[in-house]
Amino acid sequence: MYSEKVMEHFRNPRNVGEMENPDGVGKVGNPVCGDIMELSIKVADGVITDAKFRTFGCGAAIATSSMVTELVKGKTIEEAVRISNKAVAEALGGLPPIKMHCSVLAEQALRSAIQDYQERRKKEGEEQPAAAKSSQED
Ligand code: FES
Repeated sequence: MYSEKVMEHFRNPRNVGEMENPDGVGKVGNPVCGDIMELSIKVADGVITDAKFRTFGCGAAIATSSMVTELVKGKTIEEAVRISNKAVAEALGGLPPIKMHCSVLAEQALRSAIQDYQERRKKEGEEQPAAAKSSQED
């Protein structure tokens, strides 16, 4: 029922593991099946330079996490945010309809990692002017 590509990414997933000092982390779960996906990104000058994932879930969840980490590398944040679960499934040569929800988990994990990255940046931006000001006063 799975395409060759899905099986290949399931057997040999890319970019598995924990990332040191990530710029954004997204963790999502599907309450129905209980599967969990964590995706970390590294960003330099608005471009995603690295992505890693850890997934506790079905074969399709592992294959879609693997594929989404491959798809985002080299993309700008603006481009990455537009990657849909359909695009991930298509890049895998399609998914059986009952497994499409697994690709939704990959899309949500990516969006959540990007959101985390943006929130961290916003926080840094808020902290920096204050830091610059205090150094000027010194
Ligand atoms: S069955 Fe839960 S993500 Fe696939």
